[in-house]
Amino acid sequence: MDLGNLKVGVNVDIQRTDGRIHSAVVSGINLESRSVTVEWFEKGETKGKEIDLDQAYSLNPELLPKRNILQTQSYCRPPPPSSNGANQSNGVENIQEEPAPRKTAAPASQVGAGGAVVVGGGGGTTGRRKSNCVKEVEKIKQRRDERRAAQTVIQEDTDVDRSRPHWQFEQMIRGYQATLDYRPITNQDMIEDHQISVCVRKRPLNRKEREKKDPDVVTIPNKEHVTVHEPKLKVDLTKYLENQNFRFDFAFDDTTNNEIVYRYTAKPLVECIFERGMATCFAYGQTGSGKTHTMGGDFQSKGQQDCTKGIYALAARDVFKLLNTKYKKSELVVGASFFEIYSGKVFDLLNNKLKLRVLEDGKQQVQVVGLKEEVIGCVDDVLRLISHGNQVRTSGVTSANNHSSRSHAVFQIILRKKTTRKIHGKFSLIDLAGNERGADTSSSDRNTRMEGAEINKSLLALKECIRALGRQGAHLPFRASKLTQVLRDSFIGENSRTCMIATISPSMGCCEHTLNTLRYADRVKELGPGGPGGPVEPPRIREIMAPSAPSANMGGALSPQASDLMMLRTGNEEEVSEELITHHEYINQLQEQEEEVIDGHRMLFEQTQRWQEIDLRLLKMTEDVDYDTEAYAKQLDNLLAKKIEMMTALRERVVEFRHEVQEEESFSKNIEMNKHNPKK
Ligand SMILES: Nc1ncnc2c1ncn2[C@@H]1O[C@H](COP(=O)(O)OP(=O)(O)O)[C@@H](O)[C@H]1O
Ligand SMILES: [Mg+2]
Repeated sequence: MDLGNLKVGVNVDIQRTDGRIHSAVVSGINLESRSVTVEWFEKGETKGKEIDLDQAYSLNPELLPKRNILQTQSYCRPPPPSSNGANQSNGVENIQEEPAPRKTAAPASQVGAGGAVVVGGGGGTTGRRKSNCVKEVEKIKQRRDERRAAQTVIQEDTDVDRSRPHWQFEQMIRGYQATLDYRPITNQDMIEDHQISVCVRKRPLNRKEREKKDPDVVTIPNKEHVTVHEPKLKVDLTKYLENQNFRFDFAFDDTTNNEIVYRYTAKPLVECIFERGMATCFAYGQTGSGKTHTMGGDFQSKGQQDCTKGIYALAARDVFKLLNTKYKKSELVVGASFFEIYSGKVFDLLNNKLKLRVLEDGKQQVQVVGLKEEVIGCVDDVLRLISHGNQVRTSGVTSANNHSSRSHAVFQIILRKKTTRKIHGKFSLIDLAGNERGADTSSSDRNTRMEGAEINKSLLALKECIRALGRQGAHLPFRASKLTQVLRDSFIGENSRTCMIATISPSMGCCEHTLNTLRYADRVKELGPGGPGGPVEPPRIREIMAPSAPSANMGGALSPQASDLMMLRTGNEEEVSEELITHHEYINQLQEQEEEVIDGHRMLFEQTQRWQEIDLRLLKMTEDVDYDTEAYAKQLDNLLAKKIEMMTALRERVVEFRHEVQEEESFSKNIEMNKHNPKK
């Protein structure tokens, strides 16, 4: 049989069962079974495999006997699927549904007939020919490993549990991982100083996911890289992975504990509040990805949370450490507040969920009116506040997780001058609403829709505010949401620093959300690493024009709030449709009107109590035998006029509000909200 150039000792490209293609050396040829055995060197071991002759030729057509070349070209590997243009480099792992690999080990006589062993790299398709000298050295090593190589052939084919529903993907992922150099973050890595830092934390698979045998599709090989192995199917049902790589300031894998996460995220920000700075730390991610675990503390058995291990408490611990050492003479007192923002409304968690108003004065200073701030003297005080606040947060709601996933929780540590009580510095730690909730904007239930829209809007606004912080002096679209409004002072000034911890779930079922989270984090980061002196983007045209541009649906000059809303579209056009912004404007108006109605109602209620006294006095007057009828009638007439005036005004507001509610309803029905859900 004419084998062309295929002989023992030549280098060939082979395709592994996980789809990788790399070089190997032919160590034996078995004409009877029309197969060749090949060997290569990987992770300190010699590995071997038996492959069909046809397959060997299809990947190495140059080895074919001349007359066969045309016939076998159709075996060529299919082209890799096109990339979707995701953020950074896109590696594609391919697997063809090839015949099940043979389970027999290559007989010893066929192995080791000489020939070099070539180190198998990942993904590359070019055969790497080596010098004779290198070949010699490797040959010696190969002989020594002969027996192990035969063993490995078996391992290669059997260490996959084929009963698992996604074993092929898992095998591809493992193959990809085998090419990586693992160096997860440790306690010894350098702490970096950034004005804006964006980090990612992967949680472990939970019990449910493990029981479902859900594959872990996220790899964090080192302290800054994250790879999502997105399982895909081609039209011909060929399975392949789209490996999407991201880079952040820090990446924490599922073995990292809260202490280490804290060390590289919030801890470097603590000192800035002693230097008259503002610090913020956000946990951003899908519900169930680990935001509360990171910020509030580990969950132990029975759902009890150990607050001492959360970033809230760890930050407070370091605040007191600094206050009692380096800043002992600073004359500062520490206070804390804890509130949540739910559907654009602020509730005080240290004051029995009292609903609070947010007001902005002429100087753009934003105040949460009446927010309770407790003086704290030690870490224990903080722990007490956190667990009390958490209890209040979830009390009276049927599903704690459902509720907390729809609200942002803001815990603030405030430093004030002892003498003047003026704010010296503030650290805001925020457990954000689940980002997947932002996609509820087309729900048929109004409350869900409003909540979803508010979440969507606030996460967009947050991203833009952080980006604006990175470009000192850029307009800050803080009015676009309650969240950014109450955090306004944290996004201005050179001494403001922020850190975002994007939490992700590793399971295959969450892949889409995980990618959304990473894309969002990536967008926040674009300007991040530079900080002052770093790359500065030219101001965007939309930003300059926005304040005077006509509104999408309202005509005339835009209110500051609406213009900030318009700014959210800048740079987010792909994810944020014009319709979505218009919808947000509706929601803003609705919220404003709702507040006006409630304010009006409260005033009417208070006034009614005062009127009752007048009513009583007038009625008493009539009990006199000779009371002044005319005076009585005049006063009653006055009183009724006032009542009518006040009630009519309120009624007009209510009617208008109801009308707006209807408008929003039909608008939201008419629009086919984001076919491709908005990426938060
Ligand atoms: N890094 C982690 N290590 C171990 N368990 C985690 C981790 N992150 C989250 N979990 C667990 O996952 C579940 C969901 O986490 P949680 O913090 O409530 O998510 P989120 O607040 O984002 O909705 C909790 O039971 C929590 O204990
Ligand atoms: Mg939570």
